[in-house]
Amino acid sequence: MEISAVVMAAGKSTRMKSKHSKVVFQVSGKPIIQWVADALQEAGCQDQVYIVGEAQAEIRGVLGENVAYVLQEEQRGTGHAVMQAAPFLEGRDGLTIVLPGDCPMVSADTIKKALDAFENATSNCAAILITAEADDPTGYGRIIRGDDGNVTKIVEHKDCTPEELKVKEINSSMYVFKTPLLLSALGRIGANNAQKEYYLTDTIGILIGDGYTVGAVVCDFDDTRGVNDRIQLAQVRDIMNHRILNYHMKNGVEIVDPNATWIHYAVEIGQDTVILPGTTLLGNTNIGEDCIIGENTRIDCSDIGDGTVVDNSIVTNSSIGKNCRIGPYTHIRPECRIEDKVTLGAYVEVKASTVGENTRARHLTYIGDSKVGRNVNFGCGTVTCNFDGQDKIGCTIEDNVFIGGNSNIVSSVVLGKDCYIAAGSTITSDVPALSLGIGRSKQLNKENWVANKSRMRGENYIRLDDRRSEF
Ligand code: UD1
Ligand code: CA
Repeated sequence: MEISAVVMAAGKSTRMKSKHSKVVFQVSGKPIIQWVADALQEAGCQDQVYIVGEAQAEIRGVLGENVAYVLQEEQRGTGHAVMQAAPFLEGRDGLTIVLPGDCPMVSADTIKKALDAFENATSNCAAILITAEADDPTGYGRIIRGDDGNVTKIVEHKDCTPEELKVKEINSSMYVFKTPLLLSALGRIGANNAQKEYYLTDTIGILIGDGYTVGAVVCDFDDTRGVNDRIQLAQVRDIMNHRILNYHMKNGVEIVDPNATWIHYAVEIGQDTVILPGTTLLGNTNIGEDCIIGENTRIDCSDIGDGTVVDNSIVTNSSIGKNCRIGPYTHIRPECRIEDKVTLGAYVEVKASTVGENTRARHLTYIGDSKVGRNVNFGCGTVTCNFDGQDKIGCTIEDNVFIGGNSNIVSSVVLGKDCYIAAGSTITSDVPALSLGIGRSKQLNKENWVANKSRMRGENYIRLDDRRSEF
């Protein structure tokens, strides 16, 4: 059976009050229109055409060129939108799935249910509607059924009689049609209604008038939710996020506060990991087992090994090994590879560097563009000076190096294996293995300097303690 899909995405998104089309907004890490495309693909429909308007460049930017696009220059209603796909559908037999582009909650399951309903329907069936019971159906088209329970028509909210307004079953704007019958009905719709638009919904009444039947599958309202404004965007994001969190909790992840945790759809998390409040896990992040993540932590497109703790920190495009201690307040910037059992503590920033097993930088350190070996100790306030004003070049710090506090390691020196760096050094040339590098001026003590200074001013020096007692 030939299955085609038409996705309506030419609307102006007026209610979003945005410079962008609503269908490119992200929900749980995926643009709305991509959710729709993926659901169609998963339901077995590769042949997709998107009806686009002035935002077509943005939509093409998301979906790429493996699907077809048709420009609807003027937005004259959903019926008019689907009509633009007529050249694409003409001569086809089989079924056409019609979806709005603004419904990220649509699943392959829902689409398959409608396709299955067709298989079980009589040969006289022209279309299957996907409908839902809404607590508050305001704004939606209503499904009107006859005494026998069969659908007779869809009436838009603005065109409803007081009796029809009471109907709670709504049109989700998702349909499956017999392709030739859809084309035949589209040719006959008019714009004689409250909004002076060509309504796709009118095809239903027309097909029933032709003597066909129209079936409906009733779905969960949440699965049909669309995004028309930013309030609905927030609602849909919240529902999707909770579905993702529930999935992880069912798989053995502990999420302490589901109302303060955001996890993107592609994230994977191992068993017995604890996610503390204020955590955001983005992109294709992968977290191992027995980790503790949070509070207030953002991990974006990164891998975290088993047993690692990331406390109040930010990690982007990097990988961290097993049993590491990261944070609080650590910033791991893109392209870092942190190996197992590493400790990176408060106000430590690492960028485009590799850090070997067991290395520790517990406080106030910057490691940039550098290669750091195993068992290295960074004293508080160590800085790799990786920028000469033009190029970013890092240092090489070999295994077991001990760097005393407040040292500057100027690129691109090599600190040889097992060497020591004296505290407060500025190291500008290589330090051989097993050596002590000291890069600071020698200390000079001027004895009695303070007392001499007072005497030169003609005063007797009084010790601080004695002066205090006078206050
Ligand atoms: C539509 C349905 C309504 C249903 C509701 C569900 C019609 C007449 N009404 O109303 O029964 O309950 O969806 O959300 O179909 N679009 C175009 N070109 C146009 C107009 C719209 O591509 O000229 C696209 C929009 O971008 C959007 C989709 O079609 O993705 C639906 O349009 P929208 O204006 O949101 O329809 P509703 O008024 O919500
Ligand atoms: Ca809508």
